Amino acid sequence: MRAVRFERFGPPEVLGVGSVPEPHAGPGEVRIAVRTAGVSPVDLALRAGDSPSRDGLALPHVPGVDAAGVIDEVGPGVTGFAVGDAVFGAVDVARLGGASARFAVLAFWAAKPDAWSWEEAGAAATGVETATRALDLLGLTGEQDTTLLIDGASGGVGSIAVQLAAARGARVLATGRPASHAFLTSLGATPVAYGPGLAERVHALGIPRIDRVDRVLDVAGKGSLDELVALTGSADSVVTLADFTGPGRGVRLSLGRYGGQPDGCHGLAFAAEQAVRGRFRVPVQAVFPADRAAEAHAAVATGPRRGKTVLDLTTLASGA
Ligand SMILES: NC(=O)c1ccc[n+]([C@@H]2O[C@H](COP(=O)([O-])OP(=O)(O)OC[C@H]3O[C@@H](n4cnc5c(N)ncnc54)[C@H](OP(=O)(O)O)[C@@H]3O)[C@@H](O)[C@H]2O)c1
Repeated sequence: MRAVRFERFGPPEVLGVGSVPEPHAGPGEVRIAVRTAGVSPVDLALRAGDSPSRDGLALPHVPGVDAAGVIDEVGPGVTGFAVGDAVFGAVDVARLGGASARFAVLAFWAAKPDAWSWEEAGAAATGVETATRALDLLGLTGEQDTTLLIDGASGGVGSIAVQLAAARGARVLATGRPASHAFLTSLGATPVAYGPGLAERVHALGIPRIDRVDRVLDVAGKGSLDELVALTGSADSVVTLADFTGPGRGVRLSLGRYGGQPDGCHGLAFAAEQAVRGRFRVPVQAVFPADRAAEAHAAVATGPRRGKTVLDLTTLASGA
C-alpha cells in the first residue's frame, strides 16, 4: 500500500510517499481506510532518530499515531463496530507501524462525531487520551471549585486539555505567547504569557476568584517546574507530561506509550459526546497533503502552535 514513510532517520526531507506492506486487524483491533492523520512532536522525534523508540524500529517506517477513517476490517473480539463505520483513534506504532498510510490498524478508537470534520477527527486521539489521563491524575473530578493552570496550552495536547478541564468545571488559566492569547480565550481559558515571572503575571490578572492556583498541568516541559510548583505551594498538585526532571522534584510525570492506549477509549467517547453538544472542538492549525509531509513536520517543529497539524491522506487512494 502507499504511505508516507522514511527509510533513514534525519530531517523532515527524509519523508516521502512510497510502498509498505499492508497491516491487518488482529484481535481487539480494527483497520481503517485512512482519511486524515495528525502530526505530533513524538513523530518528529522518532523521524529525527532522537527517540528511544528508534531502537528496534523497522525501516522504512510510517510515522503518525492519530488517524481517522472508515473501518474496512474488524478483528476478532471487537463488538459494537462494523465495516463502514467512521471512527477516530490511535495506532500501536511499535507493533504495526504508523497512521500516515492508505490503511492503518487502530489500537483504540471511538465513533467519529458528525460535528467534526475529518481533519479534526484525525487530530484528536492522542491529545484527548493524554489530557484525560493527566486531568484524572490531577483529581479534577468536576466537583470542586478548582483553578487549573495549563503551561503550554496552545498546542495539540494543551488546546484539548483546556476544553476538557473546562468541561469538568475548572477555571482554566492557560499560558501561551501573547499572539496566541485570543486563541486561548476562544477555548474558554484566561490567557497569560508563559516564561519567567509567571506567578506575578497570574496575580496581576486581578480576576475575582482567581486568587490562587490549585492545580497545574505542565504540557510544555520547558524547565518551569520550580515556578509551577511555587504557584500551588505543593509538588503534589502538579503533573508534567514532558519534563523528565519531574519525579526528582516530587512532581508526577505521566507518560503514555508511543501509540496503543487501550484504556484511552473512555476519554475519546467523552470528547465525542461533548463535540455533539457543541462543547468541544479539535483546533486544527494546518492541513497538508501526503506528498507534503516534510513541510508538515517542519511546521510543527517551528511553531507557533495553535492546535494540531494534519495530513490529508485521501490522495494515497487515488495514487496521486
Ligand atoms: N506524556 C505523554 O503521554 C505525552 C503525550 C503527548 C505529548 N507529550 C509531550 O507533550 C509535549 C507537548 O505536546 P503537544 O503535542 O501539545 O506539542 P505542541 O503542539 O508542539 O505544543 C507545545 C506547546 O508548548 C508551548 N511552549 C513553547 N515554549 C514554551 C515555554 N517556554 N513555556 C510554556 N509553553 C511553551 C508552545 O507554544 P508556542 O508554540 O506559542 O511557543 C505550544 O503551545 C511534547 O513534548 C510531547 O512530546 C507527552
